[in-house]
Amino acid sequence: MLNAKPAEEQNQIAENQKEIPFGRPWIEDAERAAVMKVLEGHILTHGPLCHQFEDDFAAYVGGGKAVTTSSCMAALHLSVLHFGLGPGDEVLVPAQTHVATVHAVEIVGATPVFVDCELETGNMDLDILESKITPKTKAIVLVHYVGIPMQMDRVCDLAQKHNLHVIEDCALAVGSFYKGKHVGLWGNTGCFSFYPVKHITTAEGGMLISKDEKTATAIQNFRAFNYDRSFTERKIPGVYDVIGVGLNYRMSELQAALGVTQVAKLDRIQAKRAENFKALKASLEKVKGVRHVLDSNHPEGQSSYYCVIAILEEEIAQKRNDIVLALTADKVGCSIYYPQPVPRMKYYAGKYDTDAGDYKNAAVISDASIALPVGPHLDTEDMAVIAENLKQKIESI
Ligand SMILES: Cc1ncc(COP(=O)(O)O)c(C=O)c1O
Repeated sequence: MLNAKPAEEQNQIAENQKEIPFGRPWIEDAERAAVMKVLEGHILTHGPLCHQFEDDFAAYVGGGKAVTTSSCMAALHLSVLHFGLGPGDEVLVPAQTHVATVHAVEIVGATPVFVDCELETGNMDLDILESKITPKTKAIVLVHYVGIPMQMDRVCDLAQKHNLHVIEDCALAVGSFYKGKHVGLWGNTGCFSFYPVKHITTAEGGMLISKDEKTATAIQNFRAFNYDRSFTERKIPGVYDVIGVGLNYRMSELQAALGVTQVAKLDRIQAKRAENFKALKASLEKVKGVRHVLDSNHPEGQSSYYCVIAILEEEIAQKRNDIVLALTADKVGCSIYYPQPVPRMKYYAGKYDTDAGDYKNAAVISDASIALPVGPHLDTEDMAVIAENLKQKIESI
């Protein structure tokens, strides 16, 4: 229990405190007008705005071909299906990630092989990853943890040496670069999420990118029933053929209208995130009880600054959930990324007999960290309020 201040005093703090949400979509008149324009027309799905969003997104990341999808999970699923992963195949996956990264492997019957992460970045430890490669290993499905880029040249060297596919989960990595190249363009595919708290949003939605045009085109078709021509390409309405089995993981025009408007302000969004991140990191480095803040440890790794992950000292970490609750009560939005290492989650723990010692850094991040907001809905004054609040909560334990 926290040594709480008297209830009246606590309520006073909470009342005077401006709300600092963890995430808030940045929706303005431009987004509302763009959606209304779609509704006033007659093309509600797989139309020109999806293509425009794809082109604008590819221009933002600086290359490759982009394909809109209904979510990041859909883009990951399409990737593993495209590369034919299935029973008997081993796929290296992070122990510390959103479960979607691993579900993509599990859902096709391949075997996820969990790899622990580094404590400084939250990204897979590449030495451990290499030690887990066997003749059955067919792919790496990696995550750029909260937008901190992995060292993709090392990943690609390993993949080439062992003939592995590389699927990048870039759900939180719009704006993450490694050695000047946007993530998602290093591996075979990159999968992005536009869920409401992400860098940009389409409500639900995702994007798959690939530096390889053939891969992107095949996945584009697969995403839409594997029709041989899209709605807009049909000379005779209703006439098409099918070139393979497929799914419907398309994005609607309403979502794409949001996407086009949001991409246009990505530079402003990223500048604000970077500014907030740097301010909060600097403040937290002076807070006793905060062990470190995760960040890229490579001079040429540029994060997308999704949030600040503060790792607490061991004795403070035991009260982490109390601190999270106390911050929330004082209207300081915070979260946990991610609540358990995936191999510790009920389904995976029941199915795969993993040793907790195999993912001890992932466990530290799940058990001893607090995720704090840096989104463009906030400014550096809010960062000072967050740091001061966390300091107070730690001191009052
Ligand atoms: C790393 C990661 N991958 C995938 C996803 C799933 O994204 P979506 O909701 O777009 O399927 C998330 C969601 O937060 C995530 O954090």
